[in-house]
Amino acid sequence: MKVIRTIAGMRQEIKQYRIEHPAGVIGFVPTMGYLHGGHESLIHRARQEADLVVLSIFVNPLQFGPNEDFERYPRDEERDLRIAAEAGADLVFIPKVQEMYPREVLTTVQVRKITERLCGASRPGHFDGVCTVVSKLFHIVGPDRAYFGMKDAQQVAVIMQMVQDLNIPVEIVPCPTMREADGLALSSRNVYLNEEERRQAVVLYQALEAADEYIHTQQGGTCEELREMIRQKIQMAPLADIDYIEIVTFPGLEPLPDRVKIAGTLQQQPVLAALAVRFGSTRLIDNRLWTAK
Ligand code: PAJ
Repeated sequence: MKVIRTIAGMRQEIKQYRIEHPAGVIGFVPTMGYLHGGHESLIHRARQEADLVVLSIFVNPLQFGPNEDFERYPRDEERDLRIAAEAGADLVFIPKVQEMYPREVLTTVQVRKITERLCGASRPGHFDGVCTVVSKLFHIVGPDRAYFGMKDAQQVAVIMQMVQDLNIPVEIVPCPTMREADGLALSSRNVYLNEEERRQAVVLYQALEAADEYIHTQQGGTCEELREMIRQKIQMAPLADIDYIEIVTFPGLEPLPDRVKIAGTLQQQPVLAALAVRFGSTRLIDNRLWTAK
């Protein structure tokens, strides 16, 4: 496994690889590091499907709001490199902020509409930062396939839209959410939770499990009933402070009217239940996607 810290160095590696392996498939996994089993699962998937596996580790300042956790976001390069090597990465791109943003950024990539809801509503500018850095990374690495976790379902929808709108020649591969034994979705931010918050955080998963049960048993259930049921489950955790609970289409992220029956909508398009809940200063997200059988 090679560690590369400059854009020029990365381009050189890719150019050389393309000359030596004209039919080789390049798989790319962009991350902000502090790697966990979710990131590992993306690297494993890339390892299965691609000939060259490129991982990037870059805590992107552009996607953090002024009062968010950019400074204290967990970082551990040594540990990350060990995990990346074990998981099967070939190249790891770790640029400094100065390398990615040497000057004031005057050009950004903005996907409209689907970025204004869900996480976009409580994190203004967040998806502009994500789209800008991901398009820069796509231009630097030039992958054939890029792997993203469904844990961040809105991010998947936004990146798919960007790739389509800008004709970026990469296939976006959505991958399943990896979880702790009790169901909590793996996240680099889970380390912020204290013992009691961690214990209660499992309520997100439990609410989604209950929603799953509801979808499969209450054929006549409406969007509003489903949302209220999820709300009640989450409110059973005293430390949970709900940011949003939304039932939307996927990947269009259109909110479903309250009275709409879930079963009917599912015949037309996939339905996503998306949650964001604060425990103390930590904001956790999770979601569940249903498609017609
Ligand atoms: P980060 O939060 O480090 O996540 C990197 C990738 O890992 C994303 O595709 C994310 O959806 C996926 N991931 C996170 N937790 C997961 C889990 N429990 N199961 C499966 N996949 C999981 O997302 C970002 O970084 C950034 O926004 C980035 C795309 C790198 C742009 O800066």
